[in-house]
This record gives sequence, C-alpha cells and structure tokens, in this order.
Amino acid sequence: MSNQKNEEEDIELPSTEVLHNAGKEVYSYKIGGFRVSILNTSRGLSYYISPVKQFIELEKRVKGRLEDVMLLLSKGNDLGDILSATLGINREMVADAAYIIRSSLGYGKLQVLIDDPNVIDISVEGKGNVWVRHSFIEEMRPEQDFAPTNIYINDINEAVSLQQTIATKCGTYVSTANPIVDTQLPQREGGHRVHLVFPTVSKGRPEIVVRKRLPVPPSISHLVESGVLPKWIAELFKIILTARGAVIIAGPPGSGKTTLIRSLLYSLVPSTWKVIVIEDTGEIDPPKGSPWTRYTTFELGSVEVGLFDLAKASLRASGTRLLVVGETRGREAQVLAQAMTVGLGGLCLPRDQLILARIDGKIDL
Ligand SMILES: Nc1ncnc2c1ncn2[C@@H]1O[C@H](COP(=O)(O)OP(=O)(O)OP(=O)(O)O)[C@@H](O)[C@H]1O
Ligand SMILES: [Mg+2]
Repeated sequence: MSNQKNEEEDIELPSTEVLHNAGKEVYSYKIGGFRVSILNTSRGLSYYISPVKQFIELEKRVKGRLEDVMLLLSKGNDLGDILSATLGINREMVADAAYIIRSSLGYGKLQVLIDDPNVIDISVEGKGNVWVRHSFIEEMRPEQDFAPTNIYINDINEAVSLQQTIATKCGTYVSTANPIVDTQLPQREGGHRVHLVFPTVSKGRPEIVVRKRLPVPPSISHLVESGVLPKWIAELFKIILTARGAVIIAGPPGSGKTTLIRSLLYSLVPSTWKVIVIEDTGEIDPPKGSPWTRYTTFELGSVEVGLFDLAKASLRASGTRLLVVGETRGREAQVLAQAMTVGLGGLCLPRDQLILARIDGKIDL
C-alpha cells in the first residue's frame, strides 16, 4: 500500500458530505479514479473516498456516451480503441475511463470497495452509510471492528436494487421467496463470499455483506516468517496432513480459518493428491489443472443438496487422501469422522473449539 499525500490539489470533495465530521487524514492511497482516505473522525477511524478532479469530468463524458460505447463493444471492438475514439481521450486516460464503465456495469457505489484490496468486509444495512472492515484500521485500532464510509445508500429501494444486481452477477436471485442468499462473486471478480438478506426477514434493513478473500493465500512459510504461525505448529500441520491425519480448525468469525486452510492445502499438500473439498460457498478453489473434487451446497425451491449429502457423495469420488469440509455444523461431521476411520485425512471448520484429532473405530451413519 503506498501513501500518496502529494495529490491534495487533485482532490475535489464530494458535494454530499455524509460523514458527520471529516477528520484528520491518517492514511491515503488511490483506487481507480478515487482517492481513499482513512480519517480520524468523531465516529472513529472512517473510510472516505473522493474522486480526483479529472475523474469527475471524465465520468460525465463516459456516461454521456455509454450507449455508443456499449454498441461498439458488442461488435467486438477493442475497449481502449473505442474509448479513445468516442471520447477523444489520450491513452493515459483510457484506464480511468474503462474503470468508470466497469463500475457502471458492475457494483455501482460498492465498486471501489470491491476493488480495494485493503477492505476485508463490506456491510450494507439498508439506508445509510456503508461500513467496512479495513486491514489498516484493524492493525491500528483492533478494538474498532467496522468503520463507516462516506458511501451512502439513499433508501431501501437502492439497497434492494444493489442486492438484485449482485445476486444476478452471482447467477442467483434474491426475493421474498428466496430471502437469504449465500453465494459468491464470479471468480474473475474475486470470488468473494456474499451474504444477502431480503427485507422480508431483515425488518426494512436489506443486508449485503461481502467477505473479501485474498486472491492467493499466504504460504505457510510466509505465515511462519511473519510471526502469524509458530514454526512448530507449521511442522505439526505438515506431519499430520502428509500422514493423512485430521485437523479441525476453529475460531471466531473472520479470524482467518478459511485462509489458513487454503494456505495449508496450497503449501503442504502434494499437487497429485486428489483432495475433496465440500463447502457452502466455494471459497477454497482447486489449483488449476489439479485432480481435486469440489462440491458446494445447493438450494432452490424444493431442491436442497446439503453438506451431509455432499459429504456422503464425496466418499464415492475415489478421493483417497484428504477430505476438506469447509464448515462442519451437523451430520456431515459424522461423514468426516467415517472418512477418517478409513484412512482419509480430514480438514474441517467447526464453530467452537480447536482439536487436532486422530479418530479410531467405526462410526455408523
Ligand atoms: N494471514 C492473513 N493475512 C492477511 N489477510 C488475512 C490473513 N488471514 C485472513 N485474512 C483476511 O481476513 C479476512 C477473514 O479471513 P477468513 O475468511 O479466512 O476468515 P474465517 O475465519 O474463515 O471467517 P468466517 O468465520 O466468517 O468464515 C479475509 O478478508 C482474509 O483475506
Ligand atoms: Mg471461513
């Protein structure tokens, strides 16, 4: 993250100032055509975006020609060529213009937050400021948890419309008939985990939560070098996993369980092993060209394929090495235990305690 304090003159504050008190800037950087500032305000550390001056001008021009751009794009022309020709801009401005097109067709007000790698969680709770968890704020003030942003949702309809845009992009829908949706953004847009709750069950506060994930998790050696993981635990993990033992990883929400599992799998498991991954939302993606099996749960209307069904099915997938259950809350734990008794290694995430276990004996399903 670079600290770019020398661009003050480029900044134009948004006309709709929605933070109660803009405060002292403690950190800043650029995302697309926006400057992101972390401000020390009366509401704690806050996340503040402001478009750089030339970006505001460019945005007007792009939006005025959006239909022409889309028409030319549908004919297979190169976006850079289209933008320079229709807007008469030079090559240096094409990246910013492309960013504006992407936000218009993408996640609108949430686009900067989705693109900002320092944002860990995005939370929309109906009308009002959007909230974020931010890596810099977590480090500087861990007791704060979420930070308000100056990105503002004007009313319930806007929140619902954002929910619907996100659901459509994820290939699903959210409605009174399907009010709680747990899904994932497309891989090309980060594959981040998404949780949507329709007003039917959220009392007029339609909710959108996006849990960002690192495109590539840190390697185990990096975790050891940076002091996150004690060396002896990393070595123990290696011994247990290569011997096809069992590891259960537990911790509070957002503590890094899934990231650790990804790190363990990508760093310690031989690339020729057929690992089986079962999850609610597909956060643990198989490496390209690997023989891994990956199942995710499914629910639509009367069709429901849960973790238990998938865990049972996975035992027939000829995986002989390692079964990974992304979240273990119920009967699927029995299948995991059964798999371990037949010599398959296990990695799973329950909710409450940390256990490293070797399970012997048969468990009936
Ligand atoms: N070692 C790390 N370095 C940097 N960021 C990390 C690290 N571990 C986790 N994170 C980030 O912290 C956030 C939470 O991580 P993760 O999703 O793995 O948590 P979790 O415990 O599985 O959460 P949940 O209980 O909600 O499933 C993610 O944005 C992730 O990218
Ligand atoms: Mg997780």
